[in-house]
Amino acid sequence: MIVTDSDFIHRFVAPEPAGPPITLLLLHGTGGDEEDLIPLGHQLLPGAALLSPRGRVLEHGMPRFFRRLAAGVFDLDDLKVQTEALGKFVVDASKKYGLDGRQIIAVGYSNGANIASSVLLTHPDLLAGAVLFRPMVPFEPHAAPALGGVPVLLGAARHDQIVSPDETSQLAKILTTAGANVTTHWHPGGHELGPDDIAAAKDWLSTYFVQSPSRHRSAR
Ligand code: MLT
Repeated sequence: MIVTDSDFIHRFVAPEPAGPPITLLLLHGTGGDEEDLIPLGHQLLPGAALLSPRGRVLEHGMPRFFRRLAAGVFDLDDLKVQTEALGKFVVDASKKYGLDGRQIIAVGYSNGANIASSVLLTHPDLLAGAVLFRPMVPFEPHAAPALGGVPVLLGAARHDQIVSPDETSQLAKILTTAGANVTTHWHPGGHELGPDDIAAAKDWLSTYFVQSPSRHRSAR
């Protein structure tokens, strides 16, 4: 799909010279903005480049990455358009900021996790990995894309008021069928993130990308 408007208001934090050769793509939840996940990005992978766009859709003034028709009911046409736009933004921003060759790992929360899954399922070559905090199933792909071992961390919660454990299992199945290497962390509380979520994401990043850097995809 040709996207004519791929501009996102965003925040970019340049990498430190001795930092890991990774860009974290930070995707906020409903009502958030490009500043929200910057502290989390610094915490998860100190010295990495941080690219943090603001969702372009407004719901009663609250930024989101795509429209929804009701809670948990997504506007799939808009999801498609916004997924394409975000993919193009990532490729363009990687060039603009000289990030070509760095692995891109999405870190998304809630609505941001949902568009990150949509990017994984529609552009399986773009991301080297993804941390999806409190994700839902964005859509069911007609044919499984080829994720070829891309590591994905699902940060689910046992008492999430918005996402049921069944939906987490369904997403894990969709991603696993597509060839992703899925790990699930279960937070004991609800939709909000806890310190255990952050510790799990740090461990996961360290296992797959720092101690034994994955040979997966770099930005193209
Ligand atoms: C949200 O409130 O952001 C929902 O849980 C997820 C979504 O609508 O994408």
